[in-house]
Amino acid sequence: MKWTTEEIMKMDKFKRINIINSITGIKPANLIGTRSRSGATNLAIFTSVFHMGSKPPFIGMLFRPDKDVRRHTLENIRETRQYTINHVNDQIIEQSHYTSAKFDAGVSEFEGCGFKEEYIEGFSAPFVQESKIKIGLTLEEEIPISLNDTIIVVGQIEHIIIEGNCLMENGYIDLENSQSVGVSGLNSYYSLNKKKDLPYARVEEMPDFKAR
Ligand SMILES: Cc1cc2nc3c(=O)[nH]c(=O)nc-3n(C[C@H](O)[C@H](O)[C@H](O)COP(=O)(O)O)c2cc1C
Repeated sequence: MKWTTEEIMKMDKFKRINIINSITGIKPANLIGTRSRSGATNLAIFTSVFHMGSKPPFIGMLFRPDKDVRRHTLENIRETRQYTINHVNDQIIEQSHYTSAKFDAGVSEFEGCGFKEEYIEGFSAPFVQESKIKIGLTLEEEIPISLNDTIIVVGQIEHIIIEGNCLMENGYIDLENSQSVGVSGLNSYYSLNKKKDLPYARVEEMPDFKAR
């Protein structure tokens, strides 16, 4: 199969959406936990979470606001400046997926989808008890992308919670032990299996690929 932009734009709408949503490969599956100023909690699945630097430790996230639907996650982050990122694992795939349904403002997805809230003293945003890898963040910057009316939210890591067997001696997180999952498009969930650990890539230490 080969398509040009012109052909892609003429495709059946749903086929185009599915191809473009999945063409970049596997994305991380995370639940974003927030709390409004009045104390209502909210939980929503997001795949657009990305690393932005480790000193200071910044994480980015892309919001695709919808003019017709209220986006509680973004509203809550703006109100309280705090939020959590929680890995989706094998045991909570289905209930995590349904956090994307349009719940009313009065209904918390924690309750609606069967999750337990967990808190750290001095930090108002809820963590997901069922998740094995969790991050608490403070909003640092909002970057509007005028090209398609999306917004990048940048947060600084304030807290990290990692279950015992998910962290290796050297600091790497073992995504197989945490049973974290990946997402293709918006509907397909994949489990993760580690294939290899490789050293930092130096030209002088490179294997002879041409001889293989
Ligand atoms: C697998 C999956 C990944 C998603 N990733 C994102 C994302 O990265 N950014 C986004 O704005 N919406 C994303 N959504 C849509 C939100 O989950 C959905 O709009 C949700 O209702 C937002 O909740 P809120 O209105 O409480 O903020 C995703 C949905 C699914 C099913």
